[in-house]
Amino acid sequence: MAKKPWDGRFSQSTDKLVEKFSSSIDVDKELYNYDIDGSIAHLKMMAHQSMITDEEADVLARGLESVRQKIKDNALEFSDTLEDIHMHIESALGDEVGTVARKLHTGRSRNDQVALDVRMYLKAQTRDILDGLMALQRVLVEKAHENLDVVMPGYTHLQRAQPVLFAHHLMAYYEMFKRDYERFKDSLKRTDVMPLGSAALAGTTFPLNREYTRELLGFAKVSDNSMDSVSDRDFAMEFISHASICMVHLSRFSEELVLWSSSEFAFITISDAFTTGSSIMPQKKNPDVAELVRGKTGRVVGNLMAMITLMKSLPLAYNRDMQEDKEPLFDTVNTLKACVEIYARMLPNIKVNAPTMRDAAETGFLNATDLADYLVVRGMPFREAHSVSGKAVAFALGKEKELHELTLEDFKTFSQLIEGDIFDFLSTEQMVSRRVTHGGTGYENVKLAVEKARGQLNA
Ligand code: ARG
Repeated sequence: MAKKPWDGRFSQSTDKLVEKFSSSIDVDKELYNYDIDGSIAHLKMMAHQSMITDEEADVLARGLESVRQKIKDNALEFSDTLEDIHMHIESALGDEVGTVARKLHTGRSRNDQVALDVRMYLKAQTRDILDGLMALQRVLVEKAHENLDVVMPGYTHLQRAQPVLFAHHLMAYYEMFKRDYERFKDSLKRTDVMPLGSAALAGTTFPLNREYTRELLGFAKVSDNSMDSVSDRDFAMEFISHASICMVHLSRFSEELVLWSSSEFAFITISDAFTTGSSIMPQKKNPDVAELVRGKTGRVVGNLMAMITLMKSLPLAYNRDMQEDKEPLFDTVNTLKACVEIYARMLPNIKVNAPTMRDAAETGFLNATDLADYLVVRGMPFREAHSVSGKAVAFALGKEKELHELTLEDFKTFSQLIEGDIFDFLSTEQMVSRRVTHGGTGYENVKLAVEKARGQLNA
């Protein structure tokens, strides 16, 4: 059995149950590539600083590459005795190159090593997520571009409120994902900090050249406080916070897709390839992708709670509690990536039922605000106009008609200010066109917003 690196001080071997309990190899083996890259940079730096010879560095680097290959080929046996990926790799290196392997850990601790590995991992994953979010934004904007003239009801309280363009609704999600993108890009700066050389907590007596290691590993900067470096997990908390916000956006979109694809709304049809059936009810076609994304939001928000609670009240510097950071972090990365990816695939597979959307936009008095606006333009104070329009709605409801189905005589009983031009004024086309304030749903506005987004995404 492999010896523990701390054997010198211990007279008893570790209880088997403790080994099993404290082992993290099942989870942190995911970090093996980063761990090896970090070790190679460390030994190159040691050779550069004449702490080891160039020949030793060469032997160690080649040894680490064969360990990498072994892990890749599933040829390295993992065991709880060696606790984590760092000790497995060091022990496997010993098997490859003999006692010179014992020089690798000079001036280094697993505390700065694991901080380095997780940062390298998260840098790569954040970049993937940025690409995924960019692809999702592109798909959304193209969908908006294809549906620039489709009108739908806009809702508040899930009650029909005012007509909006479907493209405007989609572009609202574009704005959310754009902010998500910016958030991840921003937190990447704080992840891109190189902790190696902090050693256990206090720095080291060896003449490490941290700047050289930083350069080899392609980090933007070197961390400035060794105690902070080994105990900081802000970057992970921040990442999971941003992921939670992004998942909340996806969950809202999912909820709408679920509603819209129901027979009650029938605004959209999701293609067969992105829906599933029922094992008992032959007629069913279920929006499972949207439902699962909505459900997985709970996992990610749960991961955020786990991570934040894990770090709460921990004294400086490293504590073993922190080993628990990886599961919520890895799960968040995997879940978010999968959700963003499947959304970008699913959206082009959604058919928009424009006539149904328009019918919905033209029933339910979505033009009542505009009737009030009409009166205001003709001199009536808004509060009075609101009341007049409300009376007209009540009247129309009694007749089982929409406002635009009333006669001019009907309208005149509510206000003599109303003329024959009211009917055009209350048409859906005109209502949408008039929303010209910056950011409103006016046709021109939305077209410009879509064009601007397309330009930015393709730049
Ligand atoms: N597996 C540990 C972790 O993920 C590595 C650091 C262990 N350090 C220690 N002093 N036990 O946190």
